[in-house]
Amino acid sequence: MTLRSWARLALGMPSFVRTGQIGDGREAACAAFVEATAPPGDIDAALTAIDTFARREAMLVNIGDEKGPLLDAAVRRAAPRLVLELGTYCGYSALRIARAAPAARVVSVEFSAANADVARRIWSHAGVAGSVTCVVGTIGDGGRTLAALADDHGVTAGSVDVLFIDHDKNAYLSDLRTILDRGWLHPGSVVVADNVRLPGAPGYRAYMRRHEGTRWRTVEHKTHVEYQSVLPDLVLESEYLGS
Ligand SMILES: C[S@@+](CC[C@H](N)C(=O)[O-])C[C@H]1O[C@@H](n2cnc3c(N)ncnc32)[C@H](O)[C@@H]1O
Repeated sequence: MTLRSWARLALGMPSFVRTGQIGDGREAACAAFVEATAPPGDIDAALTAIDTFARREAMLVNIGDEKGPLLDAAVRRAAPRLVLELGTYCGYSALRIARAAPAARVVSVEFSAANADVARRIWSHAGVAGSVTCVVGTIGDGGRTLAALADDHGVTAGSVDVLFIDHDKNAYLSDLRTILDRGWLHPGSVVVADNVRLPGAPGYRAYMRRHEGTRWRTVEHKTHVEYQSVLPDLVLESEYLGS
């Protein structure tokens, strides 16, 4: 990625925090790129197209092709029936999850309706729309999204085998606690969290360290921020041991 591309990304960050999009139309352009360059029904080709777009056209905040295999491996190990994701963006990580666990249902929560549209276009093109769903909302909206997940998407006690947390870094821990309070995880559920070093979720990391060996068993994967090899990042993979 060029310096110019990083500068454009940095300028778009205030918009991203407010709206979930960088503000220059790159997310919709990514969906158009996938539709134009990847054969329909080909998950590998759709993922390659998104990575190519992010490296060549405009940086995207997907988990990306270095950290993505960590997520793939965690999902494969868990062999899930139901995966809950927080933070859909363009649908890239959900696509990786669907590829790693073809028999699973993937329910992804995203506060931006525009991002949900982008992700649905890409999932539909890649042929996974039957198993991957986006719920527009946020865990912290006073119960509306929690109710939608439970009532409309079958997210019930002990049903979530994998939780992927990749949304507002300040909400990682509070949203995990909300999900634990609902009883949606079971002993053996796996929680994967991206960007724990950068932008950083220090409270989440401290919580996992505090409960290591009692409520959680965590592996900290040292890696890099998406689509470059300089800035360090951490992906945390935590097995829930029960309360
Ligand atoms: C880093 S991106 C997710 C990337 C995606 N998981 C991937 O790897 O392809 C974060 C996304 O979370 C969304 N988001 C931010 N805060 C949120 C919240 N509190 N609830 C739901 N979605 C949120 C943003 O709009 C953005 O689309």
